[in-house]
Amino acid sequence: MSTMRSVVAGAMGEPSEVLQLQMSSVPQPGPRQVRIRVTAVPVHASDLHTVRGRYGFVPEFPTTPGIESVGVIDEIGSEVDGLAVGQRVITAGVRGTWQEYLVADAERVLPVLAGMSDSTAAQVLSNPLTAVILTGEVLDVQPGEWLLQTAAGSTVGQSVIQLGTHFGFKTLNVVRRRSAVDDIRALGGTAVISTEDEDLRARVAEIAGGEGVFKAIDSVSGQVGADVSRALAPGGELVVYGALSTHRQTEADKLTIPVFARSLIYETKTVRGFWLFRWFSQTPKECMTATINKTIQLLDSGVLRVPEGQPVPVENFSDAVRLAEAPAHGGKPLLVFES
Ligand SMILES: NC(=O)c1ccc[n+]([C@@H]2O[C@H](COP(=O)([O-])OP(=O)(O)OC[C@H]3O[C@@H](n4cnc5c(N)ncnc54)[C@H](OP(=O)(O)O)[C@@H]3O)[C@@H](O)[C@H]2O)c1
Repeated sequence: MSTMRSVVAGAMGEPSEVLQLQMSSVPQPGPRQVRIRVTAVPVHASDLHTVRGRYGFVPEFPTTPGIESVGVIDEIGSEVDGLAVGQRVITAGVRGTWQEYLVADAERVLPVLAGMSDSTAAQVLSNPLTAVILTGEVLDVQPGEWLLQTAAGSTVGQSVIQLGTHFGFKTLNVVRRRSAVDDIRALGGTAVISTEDEDLRARVAEIAGGEGVFKAIDSVSGQVGADVSRALAPGGELVVYGALSTHRQTEADKLTIPVFARSLIYETKTVRGFWLFRWFSQTPKECMTATINKTIQLLDSGVLRVPEGQPVPVENFSDAVRLAEAPAHGGKPLLVFES
């Protein structure tokens, strides 16, 4: 048990070229820290953008990617209360999780409910949490209101649809493939637009009619983001939280949203951003804990259901990396550390 496996990016670059499996010493927890034997970590596209040096923070290289994890506490440092060896836990806002043993500050470690699968637990604190924050504290979507969203089949998008069903708001869902439309309907989406064969603005007007749509979230950016802002009713608000249209975050026109100036000036629409890491760093601890607990309860009660992850043994990490950005990839690739 003195050495462990981790996936490390030796330098900034394309993940398929710079990531490698490394053996290193198992770290020791210091005061107010615990050590976790990690069982599963998701591979998000944002992890890969971090390796490319194109995410919202640029780590020092070499770096271990990863922002979420589930595992079991196997050692506890001094001055730690309320956590025990053998407890199954997740980490909140801890970076560098793609390793077999992870040392984390005790205040960033949360116990996992007994009935929650490792696949779900490993994915709580990015996508479902983002959906809860966007629809709740950011846009405060009310029962009966429309919420327009892009990339509706994403993990975030699916959670948003489930929240709409539960809290009674209507989701107007945009997908890029006609073949995804039935899945969105089956999930409970109120209406679906496929940009493969439909005009986004014309369809929003048809579906929402005279009342219009006042609230939207977009994770595609580029022209799609611009079309969404233009489709909103006067006074409407768009929150941008991703840039999926530029696959490797290299194409400037897709990292830009060409918002129609008249919409901003004469229709006083708002476009603003959201980033979970900023939320983690700026939200008072009690509010953060309350929102995280609310998300966990929604998952535990079955209101939110995260698509089952696709386990990939850590030795085959390059398969997980490929899958994470493949079209129609289904559940998240999960690196698993089987002994
Ligand atoms: N700002 C934040 O704090 C924050 C937090 C969490 C997530 N996010 C962002 O949220 C987005 C979704 O993340 P996720 O993990 O939920 O995604 P995911 O589960 O990996 O799914 C990606 C989805 O995006 C769709 N998509 C990919 N490229 C597209 C394009 N060019 N145009 C339209 N749709 C496209 C895919 O459609 P197909 O099914 O057709 O492939 C798929 O439905 C990402 O941009 C992520 O970075 C941001």
